[in-house]
Amino acid sequence: MLHLTSLAVHFGDRTLFEGVDLAIGNKDRIGLVGRNGAGKSTLLKIIAGLQKPSGGSVNTPKEYRIGYLPQEMEHEEESTVMEVAMQAFAEVQALETRLEALTKEVAERTDYESDSYADLIQELSDANERLDAIGAASTEEQAHRILQGLGFKITDMTRQMSEFSGGWKMRVELAKLLLMQPDLLLLDEPTNHLDIESIE
Ligand SMILES: Nc1ncnc2c1ncn2[C@@H]1O[C@H](COP(=O)(O)OP(=O)(O)OP(=O)(O)O)[C@@H](O)[C@H]1O
Ligand SMILES: [Mg+2]
Repeated sequence: MLHLTSLAVHFGDRTLFEGVDLAIGNKDRIGLVGRNGAGKSTLLKIIAGLQKPSGGSVNTPKEYRIGYLPQEMEHEEESTVMEVAMQAFAEVQALETRLEALTKEVAERTDYESDSYADLIQELSDANERLDAIGAASTEEQAHRILQGLGFKITDMTRQMSEFSGGWKMRVELAKLLLMQPDLLLLDEPTNHLDIESIE
């Protein structure tokens, strides 16, 4: 559950919005509708933690991961489709490294009664759980499946980002976000870049 409380944004003496209260539950799908300049992108940036509100607060549970697809963005033109999508698993690699270090530390420690030992065990178990959740199929298989679902052909996987149109590049970024399996996915006008088939 994510909570926005009395969120406000002012630019000088102009108020973009104020008094925004919202709770986003785990299964919620929310569409945000408003005219150009209403503050939709600004609100998403604040929820994503990229911008500070003038007032109010955003409260998220501990370990809550937010995926954010901006309305416009720079792409890594020199990387291939697959390279960009696979960046989603940087976290898996970091987790695996951390898990190794934790396992080693647990094996060497003897202060079984201490709080810090209990914390260590907890962290080890959390890291294991997250790896299980992410690592069902091989990471390459997962990336292929998601990219193909978004309309990429197998032969596209090794092509450079620069060879694709803006809409297709955004799809690669979307694939990366989906592969990261965040708790909350914020998409700023993603349908601008998708055709009807992909939207469905
Ligand atoms: N740093 C800033 N200083 C002053 N005004 C700003 C600043 N950042 C954003 N704004 C203004 O806030 C308003 C909201 O912009 P935002 O991009 O959030 O709107 P939007 O609802 O996403 O619009 P669109 O539908 O065009 O994407 C705009 O009028 C913009 O000019
Ligand atoms: Mg916008």
